[in-house]
Amino acid sequence: MADHDLGDDPIAQLRAWLDEARDVTDVPQAMTLATATPDGKPSVRVVLLRGLDDHGLTFFTNRTSRKGEELRLNRQAAVAIHWWELGRQVRVEGFVEDVPGEESDAYWATRPRASQIAAWSSPQSRPLSGRDELDRRVAALQERFAGESVPLPPFWGGYRLVPESIELWIHRDDRLHDRHLYVREDAGWHRLRLAP
Ligand SMILES: Cc1cc2nc3c(=O)[nH]c(=O)nc-3n(C[C@H](O)[C@H](O)[C@H](O)COP(=O)(O)O)c2cc1C
Repeated sequence: MADHDLGDDPIAQLRAWLDEARDVTDVPQAMTLATATPDGKPSVRVVLLRGLDDHGLTFFTNRTSRKGEELRLNRQAAVAIHWWELGRQVRVEGFVEDVPGEESDAYWATRPRASQIAAWSSPQSRPLSGRDELDRRVAALQERFAGESVPLPPFWGGYRLVPESIELWIHRDDRLHDRHLYVREDAGWHRLRLAP
């Protein structure tokens, strides 16, 4: 792929790549999210990209989880997405914002009831005495919300990674890959080519 085939807007380009990835892989929106403690100890895990627009990349999780705690104290984060079948990698670095409550509500409403109960039942990232404890929590929550809709938990919601930079990586033969780094500036995106 030649340079001129990539657009000047990396978010629009990422959207186009995601659309193409849908044809070749089952979960194209799986992304590895890195967060860190205030003193810089990093941690990573996979989350699903649930929204993409000019503001950034949205994912949903438990705000009291390890990642949620790290993001509360240190807003810097990064993600990587890789589609082997397409030979493409995307890296995004920036700051994370909480998405507005209405947006978390709207996404929550699309989740299957079992997933909603699971979110309520799981003290994400905390130790459990065993699988039984989780099963008991699920049973208790099913009883608590029997016959009614399951509300958004106060400890659960969306985050948006607002990009400061986005790198689009394209596999090329002999390890001579193409790397296009877009850096956000006041006037728009500044584009650089990096050595592979
Ligand atoms: C394919 C895949 C998708 C996942 N999507 C999410 C997600 O969207 N939100 C989430 O909280 N956890 C998701 N998880 C689980 C996380 O990887 C992780 O186990 C969990 O969020 C706890 O992470 P933490 O202890 O670092 O906070 C996903 C895991 C996999 C393998």
